Amino acid sequence: MKTTSKVFLAGLAVFALAACSDNFQTADATNNAAVAAGGKLYLNNCASCHGEDLKGEPDWRVAKADGTLPAPPHDDSGHTWHHPDTLLFNYTKGGGTSIAPEGFKSNMPAYKDILSDSEIWATLSYIKSRWSIQSQARQARMNKTP
Ligand code: HEC
Repeated sequence: MKTTSKVFLAGLAVFALAACSDNFQTADATNNAAVAAGGKLYLNNCASCHGEDLKGEPDWRVAKADGTLPAPPHDDSGHTWHHPDTLLFNYTKGGGTSIAPEGFKSNMPAYKDILSDSEIWATLSYIKSRWSIQSQARQARMNKTP
């Protein structure tokens, strides 16, 4: 084999590897690959509580008998889009007790040992893609304030 074709093949292999291991670093509703990957991750990891349709648990504003909160919706009817991306990321990665006040009981699991950072961003990209354009725009403005 000629050297040039070897170099070409090596380049192709590197390209294929890069294409397989997506590395999402933002919640981007316009990134089709992230939204597609996130949709599957959402169904497997989040839908059991937040609902396949992102509607959350019934009566999600009312605390349960044990004092914990039900899972809120992730669509426009909830408050997910009232929060900046970093908060959503940290909440998902660290779980409900990670940024809540001391003693707060939460049923929101930590995903740091279950999903990679890239997978969390993909899941959030999917959630964001389900918001109305208005909610996306308002949340985008919030993202700019530190
Ligand atoms: C076992 C049930 C359960 C699962 C599974 C779950 N959550 Fe939650 N989640 C909750 C509960 C309950 C809350 C309400 C706040 C609290 O109690 O900490 C919550 C709150 C949140 C919040 C903060 C509130 C908001 O609307 O911004 C985010 C973000 C969130 N979840 C994302 C996710 C993502 C992403 C997944 C999947 C990777 C997921 N959750 C899976 C139960 C769950």
